[in-house]
Amino acid sequence: MIEMENVVKNFKSRERNPGILSSVSSLFFPKYRIHKAVDEVSFQIGEGELVGYIGQNGAGKSTTIKLLTGILTPDSGKIFVGGLNPSRERKKNAYQIGAVFGQRTQLWWDLPVIESFLLIRSIYKISDSMYKENLEHFIEILDMKDILKTPARKLSLGQRMKADLAASLLHNPKVLFLDEPTIGLDILVKEKVREFIKFINQKNKVTILLTTHDVGDIEALASRILLLDSGRIQFDGEIDSFHSILGDGHNLNELEKKDLSMVIKALYRQKAKS
Ligand SMILES: Nc1ncnc2c1ncn2[C@@H]1O[C@H](COP(=O)(O)OP(=O)(O)OP(=O)(O)O)[C@@H](O)[C@H]1O
Ligand SMILES: [Mg+2]
Repeated sequence: MIEMENVVKNFKSRERNPGILSSVSSLFFPKYRIHKAVDEVSFQIGEGELVGYIGQNGAGKSTTIKLLTGILTPDSGKIFVGGLNPSRERKKNAYQIGAVFGQRTQLWWDLPVIESFLLIRSIYKISDSMYKENLEHFIEILDMKDILKTPARKLSLGQRMKADLAASLLHNPKVLFLDEPTIGLDILVKEKVREFIKFINQKNKVTILLTTHDVGDIEALASRILLLDSGRIQFDGEIDSFHSILGDGHNLNELEKKDLSMVIKALYRQKAKS
């Protein structure tokens, strides 16, 4: 369903040194620095899988998701989502995917939530029956009846995340990309969101790629994890191998388990040993 083969994405940024002289010189002789955000990444995700995409800040997770949604174009390598090339067939791809970026909303800022939903209905040409069925269903499981008339800008983070999740799924996408969908949520809302993600994956058979810094998300949801470090995949495996690292006797106490970066270090330690 999702396929990446030797994908590279570089960002070019202008090098600036402090001081007026170097500012002037960089105006005439700009120096560029190339940063490999995604470096020869390859993986395949089958239909109906729910994969956790983890890695430290700046590892390249969001860049990967932007490549898969077609927001960014790769410098080299092949990308297919449901058989489509996301950057070349961006519009067609949009009909088969949903995406939630936890750090920003896709809702219209000043419009009541329900108006955003109605706009999405017309943009994606969603049939009345499908719209009604999905909306009723999402309102019920996400417990969001009370927020439909509230403008997005007035929503709390948790309310906004629920609305964003519902918005991304109104058109019944086959694939869902979730970039930190539980960031900043309290434990109750987090659990509700996790339950919802699980439901969408298991009952609606939506293929999901989820990035998170929360070990709890991984534990509750993912059956497989991909670990990215400095743009490179360092681990691709079943959750069981992850569990064995989290388990007792692996020098990880309860406190450390909550911190994904500790878990990542433990994964490295295990890799170095084997
Ligand atoms: N538009 C851009 N222009 C230049 N550099 C960028 C751009 N977007 C991302 N980068 C750089 O690419 C690298 C990967 O960024 P990315 O956002 O993919 O990381 P991430 O794994 O999602 O991190 P986080 O966990 O903090 O969200 C970082 O070094 C970042 O500074
Ligand atoms: Mg990110």
